[in-house]
Amino acid sequence: MSRLRVGVLVSGRGSNLEALVRAGKDPLYPARVVAVCANRECPALEIAKKAGITRQLFPLSKYADREARDRAMAQLLQAHDVELVVCAGYDAILEKPFIRRFKGRIINVHPSLLPEFAGTMDAVAMALEAGVTETGCTVHIVTDDVDRGPILAQRRVEVRPDDTVESLRERIQAEEHVLLPAVVKRLAGQPLPISV
Ligand code: GRF
Repeated sequence: MSRLRVGVLVSGRGSNLEALVRAGKDPLYPARVVAVCANRECPALEIAKKAGITRQLFPLSKYADREARDRAMAQLLQAHDVELVVCAGYDAILEKPFIRRFKGRIINVHPSLLPEFAGTMDAVAMALEAGVTETGCTVHIVTDDVDRGPILAQRRVEVRPDDTVESLRERIQAEEHVLLPAVVKRLAGQPLPISV
């Protein structure tokens, strides 16, 4: 079985990366992480290191501009024949040439039921402040329109009256760790790129 080659972009804790790595340990899982790119030093890089996955840091300060940084990331991903790019807690906006290069092959995990609370890094806090009784997480295709690309799948999470941002985030992330590997599995079984 040839497995879908996945590149993961990270900036933070890396729990979604970990969920994908864990899924890939099953030889019957149809995808595996082959490269990890980070825009800053972060615990996610350590997860990649422990798993023996190629990883590289792409700090903006090392490049002329964002496009140059994204070009360098694209080169690493292409050198590893990456077929699907997963933004898993990646906190920089991808430049248009990168998105064109991997058109229909980039997905993102967002901690809300999009289109609710789009375009923000504070989607969990915003859901809590808005007083909604339900939120969740979404995996969607990345397009130029931040957080507004076609939705692939969502999971719902009830907001409890005593929730804090931390407790709510924890339950949303637990759902992300189920959702993301499931979506990647589904994409491995269908032709890519997805037309967007
Ligand atoms: C996730 O909650 C994701 O929805 C958001 O950033 C968080 C990343 O967490 N985009 P982690 O780095 O995967 O633990």
